[in-house]
Amino acid sequence: MHLSNDFITARAHTNIALIKYWGKKNDDLIIPNNNSLSLTLNEFYTETSVKFDNSLSKDLVLLDDHDISDSNQIINFLDIIRTKANINASAYVKSYNHVPTSAGLASSASGFAALAAAGSKAAGLQLSLTEMSKLARRGSGSATRSIFGGFSEWIKGNTDNDSYGKSIQDPVAMDINMIAIILDKKPKKISSRIGMKRSVETSPYYNAWTKQTEIDLIKAKEAIKSNNFKALGQVAESNSMRMHALTMSADPSFMYFNQDSIEVINTVKNLRENGIDCYFTMDAGPNVKIICQSADIKIIKNKLANKFDENQMVVSKPGRGIEFI
Ligand code: DP6
Repeated sequence: MHLSNDFITARAHTNIALIKYWGKKNDDLIIPNNNSLSLTLNEFYTETSVKFDNSLSKDLVLLDDHDISDSNQIINFLDIIRTKANINASAYVKSYNHVPTSAGLASSASGFAALAAAGSKAAGLQLSLTEMSKLARRGSGSATRSIFGGFSEWIKGNTDNDSYGKSIQDPVAMDINMIAIILDKKPKKISSRIGMKRSVETSPYYNAWTKQTEIDLIKAKEAIKSNNFKALGQVAESNSMRMHALTMSADPSFMYFNQDSIEVINTVKNLRENGIDCYFTMDAGPNVKIICQSADIKIIKNKLANKFDENQMVVSKPGRGIEFI
């Protein structure tokens, strides 16, 4: 393989699932129990530069200028790239997150998508988007979807070869925004990896989740196709709550909500009662993402302004897929 002499840099945007991925049937290969569907966001992204260099004695990995070279998750991922490219060289990785790390804003999605793109190219591989998505999946499941812009779906599959993301619609036809309400930037106590595993193993409702999610997915895809914002918002909100029910019904139980999350949820419901069409979704952290149309952004932010600062409310439009820069 021909190693690049220069750093190769890729940018990947994060994505927020409207139909969630929560549980694996293969922990090692990261094969999920259900398909998931997400919106890639323009505001949050990771830029990663990679160079494989025979003169390095070990991998050197910097995240936001901090040395994280001892991260097994990243070293293992670089090993997967080396095996695919049939090279031995160590890597120099520099990554910058424009996402609050580990706060439930899916920094692992943009992180591993950017690393898959930059790393594979730096190693001399020329991967199709589908192959890149499969590679990104080995780092973090949600990263499969961040290879693509707009709405994308992760087809669960059964093996390393048939579990990957694909574009559903890009550019997005719908007027859809997400307002991320940043309530806590600290890393979450229970990672999504650990949390979903505990849900699979101990929640008595887990089978109901996989069944219901198939129905939710069909509804979400129909809503996208028919440009029906309301239907998409409704199913996304229900699906998110169903995922969180798996954390509360696990043994031992856990939850990602804090008091502020509940306050935002109640505000969204209250706005809806007053005719503002908005919905919420939450991932493995306390931050709440409000799904809304452009004309309602101002009124929603105003409603939350007495409780939260302007810089805690980040509005995002649909974002693009992977880019080399
Ligand atoms: C709640 O992709 O972070 O954001 O595959 O173990 O790395 P691993 O998990 P991860 O889980 C994301 C969970 C979620 C829902 C989603 O993005 O679909």
